[in-house]
Amino acid sequence: MNFDSYLSDRKKRVDMALREYIPPEHTYPTIIFQAVRYSLFAGGKRLRPILCMAATEALGGSADDVLPVACALEMIHTYSLIHDDLPAIDNDDYRRGILTNHKIFGESIAILAGDALLTEAFRLLANPDHLKNIDAAKRLDLIHDISEAAGFFGMVGGQVMDVQSEGKEVDLATLHYIHSRKTGAMIVTSIRSGAVLAGGKPSEMEALIRYATQIGLAFQIADDILNIEGEEKRIGKSTGTDRTRGKATYPALVGIEESRKKGRELLDEALSALVSFDEKAEPLRRIARHIVERDF
Ligand code: IPE
Ligand code: IPE
Ligand code: MG
Ligand code: MG
Repeated sequence: MNFDSYLSDRKKRVDMALREYIPPEHTYPTIIFQAVRYSLFAGGKRLRPILCMAATEALGGSADDVLPVACALEMIHTYSLIHDDLPAIDNDDYRRGILTNHKIFGESIAILAGDALLTEAFRLLANPDHLKNIDAAKRLDLIHDISEAAGFFGMVGGQVMDVQSEGKEVDLATLHYIHSRKTGAMIVTSIRSGAVLAGGKPSEMEALIRYATQIGLAFQIADDILNIEGEEKRIGKSTGTDRTRGKATYPALVGIEESRKKGRELLDEALSALVSFDEKAEPLRRIARHIVERDF
């Protein structure tokens, strides 16, 4: 398998579908479509939609069949980034290699662009014109799981503890809570939804969720490390900001070498969760490696 072409092909399919689902910029009221498209098409890695597709494919499903769900996951993720960058949260100036949404459109439109992306993601998931081959109970299960991952007990909960922990010394349990919720939860639901749509058996679901939990944490540890030693041009955002803001991060708590070691351990655990899967899970294995070894 050529992993680079796997990633670029799946990314292309997601981008094409997103362009179809999001109304064009000249739609009235134009500013909201400009703001949403500005951040959505600024060139994210599309990790969550790719994980959703790769999980479906690992179980013999087809990537195209899960595109609406993959796109909804990316819309929720992009909303979380727009809000995360706001002055009231992380106050960041760069994202995906360009100025943050509020720097271009102002805070009110950036807040509304996030609100719109979150809401429209659920409209897409509930739209009867999409996902015609899944029954209503399965669709409801998906919507329930994705909303849980984005809400109180998922991404929002993690973000709450992230901002509340600024400038404080947190213990490892709190740090684990923050990382597994603010970042891990959306990664787990991305894998879970792809697997549910392919009709994953309970043992397969359990293994894939175990894989996703490990890579979700590893992904945020890598993000923490890149905030220290990443190249701004390559990662598309400012470095050194976690330290300035006194953020709770793995490197701040256990040091950079220990953080790297933790990332490698999580990778091993993620890969061992997939032992009973065949070559169709190869993209998932490669993505896990990529998450830990990435420089962007
Ligand atoms: C950034 O996510 C925020 C975190 C959860 C660490 P990504 O690194 O996936 O950002 P994009 O989507 O590629 O811009
Ligand atoms: C972002 O966490 C998590 C969410 C947006 C939900 P960070 O604040 O650590 O991520 P970056 O470094 O800004 O992308
Ligand atoms: Mg943040
Ligand atoms: Mg941030």
